[in-house]
Amino acid sequence: GSDRAAEVRALIRDVPGYPHDPIVFRDITPLLADGEALRDVVEAFARLCEGSSDGATGHPVDVVAGMEARGFLLGAPLATRLGVGFVPLRKAGKLPPPVERVSYDLEYGSAAIELRTGTLPAGARVLLVDDVLATGGTAAAAAELVERCGGQVVAAAFLLELGGLGGRERLTGRVVETLLRVDDPASS
Ligand code: PRP
Ligand code: MG
Repeated sequence: GSDRAAEVRALIRDVPGYPHDPIVFRDITPLLADGEALRDVVEAFARLCEGSSDGATGHPVDVVAGMEARGFLLGAPLATRLGVGFVPLRKAGKLPPPVERVSYDLEYGSAAIELRTGTLPAGARVLLVDDVLATGGTAAAAAELVERCGGQVVAAAFLLELGGLGGRERLTGRVVETLLRVDDPASS
């Protein structure tokens, strides 16, 4: 229920000014360290895929893909829970060739993520998982990478959505699911 959501929210530590102003860093370390909260989050993601008894439609998936690094921490236990495989979308330079690469812009500079060609079965239904949706740059690149490698992105799921940074807009046309939302990232 919503009390539980508030408890989970309280385990995400907000750090204003880190790594620099005006960013408020969202540290999920306390949540990861709390067994009950971690299980609750994984269960909530699983319900998004399986649907729920109150009639919510699910998103059946063949594989979970997580964005390095924090998407690994939530995506891998979810994959185990669902009984499907896990595909790591790695930051550039970590995987041996052959890889596909998609670059994306950060607030300062740019980054790239990679996936080894042939990792995904053709037509695989993929759930993208990450901790935070901010500008959506990471998720948009992840979706493009999965599609370039022959997968089909059925939804992108996030623990925490930071409203007002354009993430949802950046993912227009895609199914976006978020467990928690902060409407004004600057204030909380
Ligand atoms: C953070 C966070 C998301 C992304 C969200 O990752 O874990 O992946 O930023 O921002 P965006 O929506 O503006 O792209 P970060 O790149 O800091 O690295 P990490 O997961 O390796 O800690
Ligand atoms: Mg990340």
